[in-house]
Amino acid sequence: MDRLKGKAGLITAAGSGMGRAGAEMFAAEGARVAVCDHDGPAVEAVVAAIRDAGGEALPLVADLRDPVAARRVANQAAEAFGRLDFAWNHLGHPGPGAAEGIDPDLLELAIDLNLRSVIATTEAAIPHLRAAGNGAFLFTASTGGLVGSRHSPVYSAMKHGVVGFARALALKLAGDGIRSNVVCPGPIETPMMVRFANRPDLPQRAEDEVRATAAAGTPMRRVGRPEEVAAAALFLISDEASYITGAALPVDGGFTAG
Ligand SMILES: NC(=O)c1ccc[n+]([C@@H]2O[C@H](COP(=O)([O-])OP(=O)(O)OC[C@H]3O[C@@H](n4cnc5c(N)ncnc54)[C@H](O)[C@@H]3O)[C@@H](O)[C@H]2O)c1
Repeated sequence: MDRLKGKAGLITAAGSGMGRAGAEMFAAEGARVAVCDHDGPAVEAVVAAIRDAGGEALPLVADLRDPVAARRVANQAAEAFGRLDFAWNHLGHPGPGAAEGIDPDLLELAIDLNLRSVIATTEAAIPHLRAAGNGAFLFTASTGGLVGSRHSPVYSAMKHGVVGFARALALKLAGDGIRSNVVCPGPIETPMMVRFANRPDLPQRAEDEVRATAAAGTPMRRVGRPEEVAAAALFLISDEASYITGAALPVDGGFTAG
C-alpha cells in the first residue's frame, strides 16, 4: 500500500494503457501522480479513477510533441506538488515500419515523440529530482531497444536511443542520488500494440490476427497486460530498487531471452 508513500511524480502518456495502469498503481501505493497526456477526457478519467480510490492526482493536458510543453509539464508537476521524486517518460510512437521510402513527416513525428519530447521533459525534471534527493527516472523503450527487428528499423533506432539516454543519465546523475532505468515491454495489450502492427506503411491486419501473431512470437505464448509493465515500473521507481540504475528491464514474456 505504501511503496511510494511521500513521493510525487509525473507520468507521460498516462491517459491509456501502461501509463494509465502505472498512474493508478503508483497512486494506490501512496504517490501523488501528475497524469500527463494530450487526450483531455482520458486524463480526466484517470484522475477521477485515482481520486475515487482515495489517491492524489494532478491532471496535465499537453501535446508533448511541442518541446516547450514537454518541459513545462515537469515544472508544473513540481510546482503543484512542491517536489518531484520521479518522472516516467512513457510516451512513444511506432513511427514508420519501412526502411525505404520513409514518409518524412512520420519520421519527424516519431523522432519528436520518442526522443525530443523525452529529452525535453527529462532536462526540465533533473533539477527537481536533484532537489528532492533520491530521485528516479524511468523510461519506456521496447524489446526493439534491446534487439533489432526487421519490421522496425526506425523504431529500433529510436528505442535503442532511449536506452542509451537512460544509461548515460544513470552515469551522469548517480552522484546526485538520481537513478535512471528503462522498461522494455514486449507486445502489451494496449491500443498501441495494434497501431504498431498496422503502421500506415505496412500491410493492415485484423486486430485478432495482430494479437495471435504477437502471442505466437513470444515464448510465453501470450501478450502482456499493462499492469505487468506497471508493476515493473513501480519496482524500479520505488526505494526497493535503490541500488539499481542504468538497467534496461525486459517485460516481454521471454522474447529477448533467446
Ligand atoms: N503496447 C505495446 O505493445 C508496446 C510495446 C513496447 C513498447 N511500447 C511503448 O509504450 C509506450 C506507449 O504506451 P502504451 O502501449 O501504453 O500506449 P497507449 O496507446 O495505450 O497510450 C498512448 C498514450 O499516448 C498519448 N499520446 C499520444 N501522442 C501524444 C502527444 N503528442 N502528447 C501527449 N500524449 C500523447 C495518447 O493520447 C495515449 O493516451 C510507447 O513508448 C511505446 O513505444 C508499447
